[in-house]
Amino acid sequence: MARPPLFQRATVTRVVPETPDARTFVLEPHDGPLRYRAGQFCTFRVTVNGDELFRSYSMSSAPETDGELMTTVKRVPGGAVSNWLLDNLGAGDEVEITRPIGRFCLRDTDLPLLGYSGGSGITPILSLTKAALAATGRRVRLLCADRDADSAIFAAAFDDLLRRYPDRLEVRRHLDSVGGLITTAAVRAFVGDDAAGDHYLCGPEAFMALVESALPGPGQVFSERFGDVPPLPEEPSAPASTPATSGGTVTVILKGRKKSVPRRDGETVLESARRAGLSPPFSCEQGNCATCMALVTSGRATLRRNEALTEEELEDGYILTCQAVPDTPDITVDYE
Ligand SMILES: Cc1cc2nc3c(=O)[nH]c(=O)nc-3n(C[C@H](O)[C@H](O)[C@H](O)COP(=O)(O)OP(=O)(O)OC[C@H]3O[C@@H](n4cnc5c(N)ncnc54)[C@H](O)[C@@H]3O)c2cc1C
Ligand code: FES
Repeated sequence: MARPPLFQRATVTRVVPETPDARTFVLEPHDGPLRYRAGQFCTFRVTVNGDELFRSYSMSSAPETDGELMTTVKRVPGGAVSNWLLDNLGAGDEVEITRPIGRFCLRDTDLPLLGYSGGSGITPILSLTKAALAATGRRVRLLCADRDADSAIFAAAFDDLLRRYPDRLEVRRHLDSVGGLITTAAVRAFVGDDAAGDHYLCGPEAFMALVESALPGPGQVFSERFGDVPPLPEEPSAPASTPATSGGTVTVILKGRKKSVPRRDGETVLESARRAGLSPPFSCEQGNCATCMALVTSGRATLRRNEALTEEELEDGYILTCQAVPDTPDITVDYE
């Protein structure tokens, strides 16, 4: 069966102002409704000042509760794409988005769901909350940190959910402007007797690191990283001066061009593709966003880190080229 293309066009049907700095874009994909899971994201391909850029945005909608597909974008000071989207994209405009990606999803359990959000990290947390409340009997407890009251996204949506699920939903707000940055003690006090629940974290790296280290265990932790991630324990990838290993070849197919280069030990497929003179798509280069996703058509590779692809996508042969180091001397990878 033919694989669906990674990118498709979608029309913006509505734009919902959420806060002075954040907007929800309601999207109608041209190839029909997207099948997605609460907590997943799409990567947008946009051209800003002549440069093709890729950025990922989580769904704020949930398939269990929303007929429309929604993503919510918060302005990042100085940021290329968030500012472009907020300042240029209106109803009737078209964007290019990937199919839904990501593993920040609900699992089948009755355990309570504890969500921890910082800033725009509340986007997938809202999606998960709506899905868990509508489709399960789980309790949902949220600790939402924001700079100040004006920057708190989805306040009305959560008020509505609190009215509808008063016995199953708790939303605790933390405003830096009032209480300073959130502390380990505040996180532990919030967790209380629910340490064994499922913990979903999304926010700036410093917030994530603090919450992760504060969680007492033994609950399962799910983390969605929007930006930088902690460094890997492994050695960094091969510098350009590393000699090629004997015999192996990395072949890359991109936009109808097929290029091969000798394999270098420790080099990722993305690095090999660039060395071959190609311009493959990428964004985070940290295994988070799947912009660099491609299909291995022969050979094998190991991912150093994978925060984006599902087990099914891995079984189908997809890799994150920014994290994939070939295991076999020869490997062929197709970005189409
Ligand atoms: C899986 C995933 C899901 C996400 N979901 C969401 C979501 O739902 N909502 C949301 O709002 N965001 C989300 N993000 C974040 C989003 O993808 C972007 O990273 C974010 O919008 C910033 O992109 P940008 O192009 O505006 O900023 P960038 O241009 O990437 O800049 C980021 C920061 O770097 C600084 N910077 C840029 N260039 C330079 C330079 N040359 N020198 C010094 N500093 C520089 C900028 O000033 C800015 O502070 C998600 C990210 C991931 C990986
Ligand atoms: S570039 Fe983001 S996962 Fe590879």
